[in-house]
Amino acid sequence: MAGDLKGNRVVVLDWVPDKNSKAPMYRQIIDYISTKISSGDWTIGSILPSQRTLAEKFGVNRSTVVAALGELESFGIIKGEIGKGTQVISNTWSLLISSATPDWGNYLQSGIFKENMPTIQAINKMEFEEGIVRLGTGELSPKLYPSQMMEEIFIKLSQSIASLNYLEPLGLLELREILCERLKRKGIQCKPSNILITSGSLQALQLISVCMLKQGSSIYTEAPSYIKSLQVFQSAGMKLNGVNMDLEGIQYWNIVSKRKSEEDALLYTIPTFHNPTSIVMSETRRKELFKFCTDNRLPIIEDDAYGDIWIDEEPPKPLKSMDENGMIIYLGTISKALAPGLRIGWLVGSESVVDRLGDVKMQTDYGASSVSQWALKEILSSSYYDQYLEEMRIALKYRRDLMIAALEKYFKDLAVWEVPKGGFYIWLNLKEDVAMEKLFHSALKEGILLNPGSIYDFKKNNALRLSYSYIDETDIMESIEKLSYVVRSLKR
Ligand SMILES: Cc1ncc(COP(=O)(O)O)c(C=O)c1O
Repeated sequence: MAGDLKGNRVVVLDWVPDKNSKAPMYRQIIDYISTKISSGDWTIGSILPSQRTLAEKFGVNRSTVVAALGELESFGIIKGEIGKGTQVISNTWSLLISSATPDWGNYLQSGIFKENMPTIQAINKMEFEEGIVRLGTGELSPKLYPSQMMEEIFIKLSQSIASLNYLEPLGLLELREILCERLKRKGIQCKPSNILITSGSLQALQLISVCMLKQGSSIYTEAPSYIKSLQVFQSAGMKLNGVNMDLEGIQYWNIVSKRKSEEDALLYTIPTFHNPTSIVMSETRRKELFKFCTDNRLPIIEDDAYGDIWIDEEPPKPLKSMDENGMIIYLGTISKALAPGLRIGWLVGSESVVDRLGDVKMQTDYGASSVSQWALKEILSSSYYDQYLEEMRIALKYRRDLMIAALEKYFKDLAVWEVPKGGFYIWLNLKEDVAMEKLFHSALKEGILLNPGSIYDFKKNNALRLSYSYIDETDIMESIEKLSYVVRSLKR
């Protein structure tokens, strides 16, 4: 390092950028200067040559030097002052690390997994704001958590778990065995080798989307549908096609006119307490749909996330109970009936399907949480679980009835709805056009978080997915009243 006429240390340049490198010139200059400062070669107070000199020595345009110095200055590492030149002012690691930060924005745009819709991103964030009333959330209230049952189970587990090593590729055998027993009650005959334990049903959908379908394939599904609120199939290059539904379920006959011949396709359906409408597919429609799909070689993914959450009467048996030839991949989860935080779901299919998906699962996360699998095995084997389900249904019935009463009181002239026989949701169809985005934000100002129907639909709608499962009982009447005022204020 040499001194200038005023006695300041002037740095020595001993490098030129590599013109053949893929890294832009200005980035190379930033890296060079950062390294010199962080290594202590250039100390605080040292002076850099003028921009013109730097440009000449590096063999680059002056604008390249200006860009590099500008970025270093924005990190607080150097400072340019008229009359003093450019001086090194800091060498702290935190500042220097930021100079090496790549332009992540650019990378993030390039990935294949599509971003969530902005409304969903907002909902995911707002759910954890203090004081927010969650009027659309699809999980059970923490007040319904069976803490005593869970305490006993976890105490038992802490005494019985001998290791938390990885488990077998398809998941804990004892858990798959108990699931076979429980599935038998629903009319589904299967062996443990037909079951893959997943990290929630979402992972099952993810595995299917990456393992089983070509890009450009079609997924037919109810319109509206929960699956429309995700990007899982679209990110894998598949087309989601909404098929109208009525009170008996999906109008499968409309698939004929939509489906191109030779097209690879499958049907994703939530026949029981459908999300978001809570419609239960009738027994007759189930039979017809199964025949249609068999005749038309259209494999089915049956999502039975809400099957155990019946309130008034047990629903018809799953479609999978009719399946003798492996036409259907059946998805179950413990998320809705008990604990989404366990992140455990199960996929039931033919051995070839289960093995293939299990192999990819092993490459993805080497198995779902061992603690959760042991815990769920204990839960499902416990005599308390069925009793818990009964109590949970009674609590949900109470909440559903309260919300229906609130709607009767405040929404009779504003909307129409069906009374759900199970599940979590009331699909509230507003009678008049309301600007949904405005409604979302106006309700938020009142402390109410909504799930607008647009998240789930293929075409414009005027609906809200209300949920009675999460909200405090004591908040139901007041929130529905408040919501009715907001809706009235926005009617066009
Ligand atoms: C129909 C349906 N399937 C799957 C899921 C996702 O469940 P999991 O927590 O098991 O991933 C949900 C959650 O809302 C759902 O409503």
